[in-house]
Amino acid sequence: MRRKDHYYYKAQREGYRSRAVFKLRQLNNRFGIFTGAKTVLDLCCAPGGWLQIAKEELGEEGIVVGVDINRILDIDGVTFVYGDILEEETLNRVLSVCSEFDVILSDCSPNVSGIWSVDHERQIFLARASLNIAKRALKDGGTLVIKAFQGSEYPNFLKEVQKCFGFVRTTKPSASRKSSAEMYIVAKNFRKK
Ligand SMILES: C[S@@+](CC[C@H](N)C(=O)[O-])C[C@H]1O[C@@H](n2cnc3c(N)ncnc32)[C@H](O)[C@@H]1O
Repeated sequence: MRRKDHYYYKAQREGYRSRAVFKLRQLNNRFGIFTGAKTVLDLCCAPGGWLQIAKEELGEEGIVVGVDINRILDIDGVTFVYGDILEEETLNRVLSVCSEFDVILSDCSPNVSGIWSVDHERQIFLARASLNIAKRALKDGGTLVIKAFQGSEYPNFLKEVQKCFGFVRTTKPSASRKSSAEMYIVAKNFRKK
């Protein structure tokens, strides 16, 4: 069971579904993730904290789509696709809602085994799947925010992201637990081939 900290209670008080909302808020304050965005895809979105922030940022007119293998409680004005991001059929269902996105978010975590090398490899596998989805579903000039666990595959993965975007920064928001190996890669100016 995870320790309940300041951000956990703050999320509860403010009506958010996860403490992860504060990581996205901090990333948005620093990098203007949602500036000018009208369409957002959130990969691995359950329980839906990031979806709540995306909807707030985009307002009524914005299109926000979330995907997860776990179901979520409905959020007004948000489309949820129940499915595995590793399956082609899931992406097809997403693209039938919206064919291109201004922003793609990915906060994927695998079921943790407790064996670090295995968990790292599985997480990078999900991050890579998210990058591949971005290559097909992100607009030219778009923004990708992607969580990646630091480890032996991380530098290679970062290089793969750098190849596709004009601006790439890595950061660990203060709402991310110090004990966690997660980093957030913020990539802007997508170069669609
Ligand atoms: C840290 S949580 C995301 C939290 C979310 N950003 C929020 O603010 O509520 C990670 C999610 O990754 C999802 N996930 C893991 N593997 C997946 C897969 N192959 N396809 C879709 N979702 C997956 C899990 O079900 C879990 O809900």
